[in-house]
Amino acid sequence: MPRTAPTSTRATDPAESPRIAELARCLDCGAGLAGRASCPGCGRSYPESDGILGAIGPLAGRNRIAARFYDGPGWARFRPWERLFLRVQGGKGRARRQILRHLHAPPLARVLEVGIGDGENVDQVPGDWTVYGVDIARAPLRDALRRRPGLAGRLALAEGEALPFADGTFDAAWSIGGFNYFRDHAAALREMKRVTRPGGSVVVADEVPDLHRLGIGHLIGVPRLDAAWLRALGLDREFADMVLGLDLDPAAVVESAWPGASKHRIWGGLGYCFVHADTAPDPESAGQISPPPGPTP
Ligand SMILES: C[S@@+](CC[C@H](N)C(=O)[O-])C[C@H]1O[C@@H](n2cnc3c(N)ncnc32)[C@H](O)[C@@H]1O
Ligand SMILES: [Zn+2]
Repeated sequence: MPRTAPTSTRATDPAESPRIAELARCLDCGAGLAGRASCPGCGRSYPESDGILGAIGPLAGRNRIAARFYDGPGWARFRPWERLFLRVQGGKGRARRQILRHLHAPPLARVLEVGIGDGENVDQVPGDWTVYGVDIARAPLRDALRRRPGLAGRLALAEGEALPFADGTFDAAWSIGGFNYFRDHAAALREMKRVTRPGGSVVVADEVPDLHRLGIGHLIGVPRLDAAWLRALGLDREFADMVLGLDLDPAAVVESAWPGASKHRIWGGLGYCFVHADTAPDPESAGQISPPPGPTP
């Protein structure tokens, strides 16, 4: 596995880091936005609203369904179940560190979370890393800013499949918890790798996609019954149908986009975590996340 020197793409503290609009480039023509609200190359508009950069087009397929869910009341209803799931996995800190421990980046690293939601992973990475985040839904990004004002200027509405950044912009990139329902899994994996510098860590993790097969409907051979309990958990009809209809083999799609990626079983076998093969673990570099300790509250 290639190794890289532990140098970061930046050398300042998070408060002085560039705004996301300064790092971003146009999705259409590739010109750097240099902080402007419209592209200097083609004029495409990149409006900022609620402190969030808009670098996204009309959503289609699974991304449209997922954004509607995360922007609507369903996500708030579902959230307690997610928290319960993480508690059963030893607490959210421990559950998240099973994934984040695969990220290796030097001190003062500039890192990207794809599908950052309300930013819960930000508390689990070294405090001197500057975290940037993109998501397809606005409500979670607003929550992220409300709960973690330090993220101001570093969040954008953008799809993992079309990241508005030049190659090698970040020292590391990851996505946790949304990947199964991305519109185009392979495209998102390629994009995460592209915007990460060579040798930088790239990690993706989610629940195993057939978790719902543990539902009573599947167990008794009437899978439609499971739509009812998924909706009772807070999913809207479209999202529940998407869950039941998903045909995803994460290992196969990861192997196609990230050949040789390492696979890790997480959350007692209920989740997966893939690490790009070029990721250069550097045990000497400060700022790594340690392996999960014992259960945390
Ligand atoms: C279950 S939440 C996880 C949030 C956060 N990563 C965490 O670990 O708590 C999944 C997030 O992924 C976002 N998402 C789903 N599909 C996406 C895509 N194609 N590109 C970017 N974000 C996406 C959703 O809007 C949602 O905020
Ligand atoms: Zn342009």
